[in-house]
Amino acid sequence: MSIKKIVCKDTQEIANLAAQNFIEIIKKRQNPLFILATGSSPILTYKNLINDNNVNKTSWRNVRTFNLDEYVDLKEKYVSESYRNFMNINLFNHIDIDKKNTFFPSKNLIDGKYDDMISDHGVIDLAILGIGNNGHIAFNEPGTSIDSKTHIAYLDESTRLANSRFFNNKLEDVPHAAVTMGLSTILKAKKIILIATGTAKKNAILHLCQAKEFDPKWPCTCLVNHQDVTIYIDRDADLK
Ligand code: F6R
Repeated sequence: MSIKKIVCKDTQEIANLAAQNFIEIIKKRQNPLFILATGSSPILTYKNLINDNNVNKTSWRNVRTFNLDEYVDLKEKYVSESYRNFMNINLFNHIDIDKKNTFFPSKNLIDGKYDDMISDHGVIDLAILGIGNNGHIAFNEPGTSIDSKTHIAYLDESTRLANSRFFNNKLEDVPHAAVTMGLSTILKAKKIILIATGTAKKNAILHLCQAKEFDPKWPCTCLVNHQDVTIYIDRDADLK
């Protein structure tokens, strides 16, 4: 196992280091392919990438992106909370990416279809991940198989509670399901980076760093089977 842990002094340092991974690949590869996460963790990294695109002109014109997940059956009044919208607002609208090259899973793309789409586009150069307080990766909740492909996932109550902040703190409005990339597809990325901040993530990070093998109770431990994982965390998320 080769998980590299980098403890940063603050979220800005995390974002600077995380963004550098994207920039290096874009400069090196002709048609980079990225797996992208939503949620709070990558927002500052995306800000850095927007700034780099605008100021240094690192171009996303040939980049293809596949997002990790998307809610199923969002209530009409919350369509703005879709992950497609999140990505538009926090990254795609502000860089020179062609939105035709940005993909999201959906109910029509399960049973291997989204996964085949990804492999038809070539090698995944980099995946950026957050992590749930319960150790979920994308919406692969505890109990998910390491062989999983893109599937419909039923969200843990702890996940719905954590995400209720995006739904006016109304738990009843948080969707019960999402379509998520499976663990086996995420593990195909050549390089994986994971961002975690705050004490709520500490237990999940502890399980990830101490795992010797995959433990389905903590889906994040699938990363111990990967050759190139770097986790960027703050002191609060670090095991003491
Ligand atoms: C989102 C995703 C989720 C989040 C996780 C952490 O695309 O895949 O696994 O990364 O729930 O969310 P934040 O970053 O909001 O704490």
